[in-house]
Amino acid sequence: MAEPLRLLVVCLGNICRSPMAEGALRARIEAARLGHRITVDSVGTGGWHVGEPPDPRSIATAARHGVDISGLRARKLHARDYRDFDRLLCADLDNLAEVRRRAPDAAAARASLLLDWAGQGSDAEVPDPYTGGDHDFEQVWALVDDAARAIVDRVATPARFGA
Ligand code: 4NP
Repeated sequence: MAEPLRLLVVCLGNICRSPMAEGALRARIEAARLGHRITVDSVGTGGWHVGEPPDPRSIATAARHGVDISGLRARKLHARDYRDFDRLLCADLDNLAEVRRRAPDAAAARASLLLDWAGQGSDAEVPDPYTGGDHDFEQVWALVDDAARAIVDRVATPARFGA
């Protein structure tokens, strides 16, 4: 059987966007029984929140959609992540630029915008909700959950998987 596709979602703090994306992906992977085909983790390019659970607003938003992300803990992007993951899926262009800047030569090509890679637009970013309100967190959930659905559909239908 082929090796699983290893996805790493990247944002700035690893307490809002990327843990919500990780939770959405985990839930959809589990629902599709595709845990043997695709794995997911998340990190931040910044280290301010290392070791912390997701922001309480992220936990509450995911919970409203039936997904428990309270057990996740923030960590910072590490050099080994470029070996350990097949795709580094970034929330926005700033984080994509930072992931590419830190990449060993060949690995930069494996970094993409999450929404672009999921087929949700070109140069499409997940906006940072950190200084926003509940509406902003709900908007992030809608974006990352649509991306999660598209990614899991694509993995479930290998003929359509061109990554
Ligand atoms: P995230 O949001 O990148 O979606 O996790 C942020 C979290 C924390 C900070 C910025 C953005 N911060 O500046 O601490």
